[in-house]
Amino acid sequence: MVTAFVNGQYLPLAEARVSPMDRGFLFGDGAYEVIPVYSRRPFRVDEHVARLASTLAAMRLNNPHTAQAWKAIIGEIVARNPWEDQSVYLQVTRGADSKRNHAFPGPEVQPTVFLMSEPLVTPGAEQLAHGVAAVSAADIRWLRCDLKTVSMLANCLLRQHAIDNGCAETVLFRDSFLTEGAASSIFVCKDGVLLVPPKSHLMLPGITYDVVLELARSRGMRHEVREVLEAEVRSADELWMTSSTKEVLPITTLDGRPVGSGEPGPMGRQMYAWYQDFKLTVMRNG
Ligand code: PDD
Repeated sequence: MVTAFVNGQYLPLAEARVSPMDRGFLFGDGAYEVIPVYSRRPFRVDEHVARLASTLAAMRLNNPHTAQAWKAIIGEIVARNPWEDQSVYLQVTRGADSKRNHAFPGPEVQPTVFLMSEPLVTPGAEQLAHGVAAVSAADIRWLRCDLKTVSMLANCLLRQHAIDNGCAETVLFRDSFLTEGAASSIFVCKDGVLLVPPKSHLMLPGITYDVVLELARSRGMRHEVREVLEAEVRSADELWMTSSTKEVLPITTLDGRPVGSGEPGPMGRQMYAWYQDFKLTVMRNG
């Protein structure tokens, strides 16, 4: 049985209810986070809670909880669910008004808070050994991709485009520049240098993106944070997708053509090893 949290109450997920008038349902008017949990310890939870706060601030939605209260709720959801490794999903919407109106409701309408957890499924040995296939597409999303909102239709269409083509991810280009993946950040390796676009309104500030750059910096992998041309992606030696659930996963074909050798490359293997080591070190230090 999965335990969920809805507006202050812990209850079985199957019994969780929100109103059809909820603005998350009517307008996609909400924010979310996905927090990986290893050995019952939420990874980078302060960063996830801070990103939630900045999404809510940009949405002009009062944050219903302090960082400390969020961490307590996340901790409780982890404790009440059966798995050692989990993926905690957290969502806040602008709540349920009595009528449908695009404009914000008055202060009497409280935000809806929902959390649930699932087993954390990171890439398996086969995917890590051979990498995954990706397709590319034009980034058709809006101009606030830095916000982690539940208005995800474009991301869903773009991810489904990958699935329809037998692929794991869609790599997005806007005006011939790399932005990110449909649900991941994208890193490029060329001539021994790791390349990634700078954070902007065109991409999500990934928590894993930060970890990867910190590792590159601290362990001495050459890297550049700068705009990356579509042409550079198409001639890359290695491509990786990163996210809280995919960690660091090599992309070995793009649009049916091999990336570099068509097998995971040395920089990706190195970063994957550093990432796993970092996770374990952080776990040991609590
Ligand atoms: N998605 N870019 C997009 C569009 C994403 O949806 C995600 C993550 C990322 C990577 O962010 P992070 O490293 O903080 O997980 C980048 C989550 C996992 C999801 O929607 O399920």
